[in-house]
Amino acid sequence: MQALVAFVLMIGISVGLTLASANAPAQAAHEHEDYDDMENEFEGDAEAIEYGRQRFARRCAYCHGGGGMGAKGPSLTKGKFKWSRKALTTDLVNIIMGGIPNTQMGAFGRTLDGDEVLKIIAYIRQETERVRVEAIRAAAEQAEAK
Ligand code: HEC
Repeated sequence: MQALVAFVLMIGISVGLTLASANAPAQAAHEHEDYDDMENEFEGDAEAIEYGRQRFARRCAYCHGGGGMGAKGPSLTKGKFKWSRKALTTDLVNIIMGGIPNTQMGAFGRTLDGDEVLKIIAYIRQETERVRVEAIRAAAEQAEAK
């Protein structure tokens, strides 16, 4: 009788473990998905970025400054965003399409389509990288001058 109880317990435990381990990868994959950003096919695409630059100059620079360096609206080229802790493209799309309530940041979802917004973001990413590299270069030159 005791042997039977032990046997049943053992089966129970191994089934439980199997179920737990079968669940684990699925959960991990799902968690990963939550943190995964959408892909922006226009990043690094010179033609798309040029289009984004022109759109930005017309629709955004008025508040965010030339090259997105900041004016009465915040700089968009620091690689850091108040409204997206991880600087995700998904968040930027939502911000630009939907606006930020109770601020001057309006919703552009009616006047820009998804591709146009992604091209503007590709432009912002390129400017961010340019500003970053320029800052490193300037720091290196300053260090050399000493
Ligand atoms: C009328 C002025 C105005 C225009 C035009 C405008 N913005 Fe903004 N935008 C703002 C202001 C002001 C904020 C900051 C809101 C806040 O956090 O209080 C902002 C915030 C943002 C943010 C979030 C910044 C962060 O740190 O999280 C993004 C991204 C952004 N704007 C992109 C754009 C893009 C792209 C365009 C053009 C399609 C655009 N904005 C046009 C005023 C403007």
